[in-house]
Amino acid sequence: MSSEQYSLTGILRYEWIFGYGFLGYGEPGVTRNLIEAINWPSGCRVLDVGSGLGGPAFLMAREHGARVTGVDLTEATVGLARQRQEEQGISGVDFIQGDIHDLDWPPESFDVIWSRETLLHVPDKEKLFKKFHLWLSPGGALVITDYARRQGRGSDRFEEYVEASGYPLPELDRYARILTEAGFVDVSVEDRSETLADLLQEQLDKLESNKKEFCETFSREDYEYLKGRWQLKFDCCRDGDMKWGWFMGRKTKTG
Ligand SMILES: C[S@@+](CC[C@H](N)C(=O)[O-])C[C@H]1O[C@@H](n2cnc3c(N)ncnc32)[C@H](O)[C@@H]1O
Repeated sequence: MSSEQYSLTGILRYEWIFGYGFLGYGEPGVTRNLIEAINWPSGCRVLDVGSGLGGPAFLMAREHGARVTGVDLTEATVGLARQRQEEQGISGVDFIQGDIHDLDWPPESFDVIWSRETLLHVPDKEKLFKKFHLWLSPGGALVITDYARRQGRGSDRFEEYVEASGYPLPELDRYARILTEAGFVDVSVEDRSETLADLLQEQLDKLESNKKEFCETFSREDYEYLKGRWQLKFDCCRDGDMKWGWFMGRKTKTG
């Protein structure tokens, strides 16, 4: 992960494009859709891995009475998330600043493990998914949205982008296999790459039509950075090199 990507300015300019409180695509609609897709008993315990500015955690707590533990790597995101939680008077959410690789909980600590646009930063998914499985209660649900890659080598541009970003991306079916091998059952994978291309195009349009306001809030350099990065992601997605997967799985009722 580059230090610039999730610096305070990096986060705020990402938030500008994703919407207040969010650093994931299609919000808050995608969070609501994913919550609907699983059995979500009121009061369930959620681990949100890469909780960002807390928008999804706040929604889960407010709309579903969930008790959420949000984990994020950077001080800047956790600091802002805590500040907003206080401003908005939201209870039932706790943020921990740390690297998910270094944290541990007793078995069966959570009913849902949730992670959006974060695990692209994790090289050893096998090891982490085994821990997720252990931390889930029997019958608990896993929900992930994440980037993946096409089968075989992609375009030079795409390969350079993922190498420079340090994204160890598996193919969609390999991703699902890793989940199954970690012990999850009812594993499903949805290829949502077309949705992602549409969302990226919408965001590019928003950036272009609000260029003046964006440059006044941030800077011309920030504008060029974001535009270049979003255009690259859009092109990689449209050309079929980059995939967006929605993954779900469960722990068996017998654990
Ligand atoms: C693209 S943002 C997504 C945030 C949030 N899931 C959302 O949908 O709004 C990815 C987040 O993952 C965090 N992150 C990256 N690697 C991490 C790690 N190893 N452990 C915990 N958080 C991590 C980053 O700091 C960043 O806030």
